[in-house]
Amino acid sequence: MKKGRSLILKVPELSSRDTDSKNDSPPFFLENPTFRFDTLMDTIIKEREEQRRKNKEIGGTRQLRDMLDVLLDILEDENSEMKLDKENIKAFFLNIFVAGTDTSAITMEWAMAELINNPHVLEKARQEMDVVIGKSRIVEESDIVNLPYLQAIVKETLRIHPAGPLLFRASSKSAVICGYDIPAKTRLFINVWAIGRDPNHWENPLEFKPERFIGNGQSQLDVRGQHYHLIPFGSGTRGCPGTSLALQVMHVNLAAMIQCFQWKVYGNGTVDMKEKSAGITVPRAHPIICVPVPRLNPFPLCD
Ligand code: HEM
Repeated sequence: MKKGRSLILKVPELSSRDTDSKNDSPPFFLENPTFRFDTLMDTIIKEREEQRRKNKEIGGTRQLRDMLDVLLDILEDENSEMKLDKENIKAFFLNIFVAGTDTSAITMEWAMAELINNPHVLEKARQEMDVVIGKSRIVEESDIVNLPYLQAIVKETLRIHPAGPLLFRASSKSAVICGYDIPAKTRLFINVWAIGRDPNHWENPLEFKPERFIGNGQSQLDVRGQHYHLIPFGSGTRGCPGTSLALQVMHVNLAAMIQCFQWKVYGNGTVDMKEKSAGITVPRAHPIICVPVPRLNPFPLCD
């Protein structure tokens, strides 16, 4: 698990490096995340195949089936409409891990940083939670629908800090857009980061103001690719397939951090907001260093 985690964290950082460089020391392939991921996945798949074989021998069924079981079922089924091999399975998991972990973690960090630097927003979110949930239990997924201010905080974070700042496309046919001739097969880069900060679309765009998503029909404005000035998960058929999972994870984890702790920051009480250019994502340049002080006493434990 630890091995897998450090590996996944390395992928975005290394994605911007020249993978063919001859000067890499140690030899690049030893550090190459694709190579290491391949080895790790091979081990996991082998272990799982062994478990499945043993289970079959004794005529049992695995109690806890996960995504790997589903994909191995397809791989082993000669009559399956969809043909999969092990390379496809490994590529699938690599895609999910790389696209799903770094982006979610980065967005959570930006959300916490904005809350620390905007204590009035943090206090308003706390008040909402105290009214809706109280102090005797921890927020659950089913509460999120009743926490509009929290939802607005997540949207506002994704507007100013889209984890994936650029979308990539190629035009399938020629077109004229806003007077510009775009030939077929043109590589297009969509700057989601700049669109989220464009004063033509957002009033005081650099201000962290979740209220902009509340009232006057603004709560209808969402992040799922239908409103083109807010597309942190992209749009269309290549839009992020993990959007629902990411939003669920973001809302409930952020809610728990707001509900359960005060966040004490030393120095002037604010955190630095510099961004780091690290490849395909935009993480923070500096880690957030703060002390969580429990605010619920006694601390309610999850069932
Ligand atoms: C806050 C969290 C996340 C953000 C901001 C985010 C953002 C994005 C963006 C901008 C794209 C490109 C979309 C496009 O080109 O239109 C993308 C693609 C993708 N995302 Fe996410 N994502 C997040 C979480 C996740 C999670 C949790 C998963 C899976 C568990 C995931 C899986 C993927 C995959 C597999 C793709 C590639 C889709 C393709 O090219 O067909 N993402 N994501």
